[in-house]
Amino acid sequence: MSVVPAPASTAPPSTEWDVIVLGAGAAGLMAAIAAGQRGRRVLVLDHANKVGKKILMSGGGHCNFTNTGTSPAQYLSNNPHFAKSALARYLPQDFIDLVDRHGIAWHEKELGQLFCDGSSKQIVQLLLDEADAVGVKVRTHCRVELPRKVDGGFLLATSAGRVHCASLVVATGGLSIPTMGATGFGYEIATASGHSLVPTRAGLVPLTLSGKHQERLAELSGVALDVEAGCNGAFFRNRMLVTHRGISGPAILQISSYWQPGDDLRLDLLPGRDALAWLQAQQAERPGTELKNVLAELMPRRFAQRLCEVWLPNRPMKQYTPPQLQDTAALLQAWPLVASGTEGYRTAEVTLGGVDTAEVSSRTLESKRVPGLYFVGEVLDVTGWLGGYNFQWAWASGMAAGSVA
Ligand code: FDA
Repeated sequence: MSVVPAPASTAPPSTEWDVIVLGAGAAGLMAAIAAGQRGRRVLVLDHANKVGKKILMSGGGHCNFTNTGTSPAQYLSNNPHFAKSALARYLPQDFIDLVDRHGIAWHEKELGQLFCDGSSKQIVQLLLDEADAVGVKVRTHCRVELPRKVDGGFLLATSAGRVHCASLVVATGGLSIPTMGATGFGYEIATASGHSLVPTRAGLVPLTLSGKHQERLAELSGVALDVEAGCNGAFFRNRMLVTHRGISGPAILQISSYWQPGDDLRLDLLPGRDALAWLQAQQAERPGTELKNVLAELMPRRFAQRLCEVWLPNRPMKQYTPPQLQDTAALLQAWPLVASGTEGYRTAEVTLGGVDTAEVSSRTLESKRVPGLYFVGEVLDVTGWLGGYNFQWAWASGMAAGSVA
């Protein structure tokens, strides 16, 4: 960020704030609350028509607000150690306590994922109530121009006038779901202030298929089954859903963050089983039953049938020789489906990459290049798995910055 002297003599006077937070999402509101609790005068600016839009649409309207099993291992970043400090100082239990203090009922769905019994709106209201209680001002519908570093802080020209602050917290999120207000503004601020960006791409996103791969599955759209999806050393066991354009479901969304075009995707269609031993047992017990009917016991019948039309020969079990049974087991445990791409930012839950963490303090989230400038939440190169981890990062990083900004 270039240090430009403020044209104080000619421009109208600016409003003074201790802290300005750009972005009224999960991370920005938490940073504002933490700073407000320290007695700082805090202004939050957002260009969208309302705050916390992603919170509102999250978790199918019930907001998966944290995960009790959160650890740094569930985050992707060029620096896997970066998230440790903030995550260790604001735990899932800290947010659960906050939710409880606001009387919001919640439940655990699976794998430590906590959801509101009621609505995501309750989480947005919690944040607004906490912000209000410590005097934080939130302004929506506000366009902001690139901030300027000036003596004693930052000067921002906005559609609501000029504002000045000592500390500037960038919480503008990533690029996913542009219709919800996502922009690359945080990245612009970062590059203008001399920060590097880790290339961004869509994460937690459905994968698309093309050509014969798509044609072979298209008519199974809507069919779901358990799989273990693997790519580049990561494995996720969960549901897979066949869609019109490809594959989705939690297992696929998770693995999409580890996949890039050209990478091998491994889909185990009999997760948690020794496929060969199971097929051998079926052969012994039901020699006259055809393979597709045997498979239909462990996966949807239509899927089993399609597998046996396209990828596997279908015969009574007794007709398979030992090598053929081995080949069948190998295919079932590493189904050769080739993804052609992803559905992109239009439907992605998160953005991988972002502001390079090498130039940001992991303890305070302050820029190592520009004192007083902070980056929190998804704008940074820290991206969580599906399951409440991204909000936990937003709370934890927001709290870390807001405690010092
Ligand atoms: P977020 O994107 O929340 O906020 C950024 C804010 O900055 C927005 O309010 C935006 O309007 C504002 N902004 C952007 N550009 C601006 C500009 N130029 N000027 C002013 N303001 C600007 N995670 C999870 O843990 N559990 C879940 O259940 C879900 N579910 C889910 C569903 C869907 C459909 C999506 C898309 C995402 C999720 N996520 C999730 C991910 C989660 O929503 C996400 O990681 C966090 O919201 C990131 O929080 P941030 O505050 O960093 O950015």
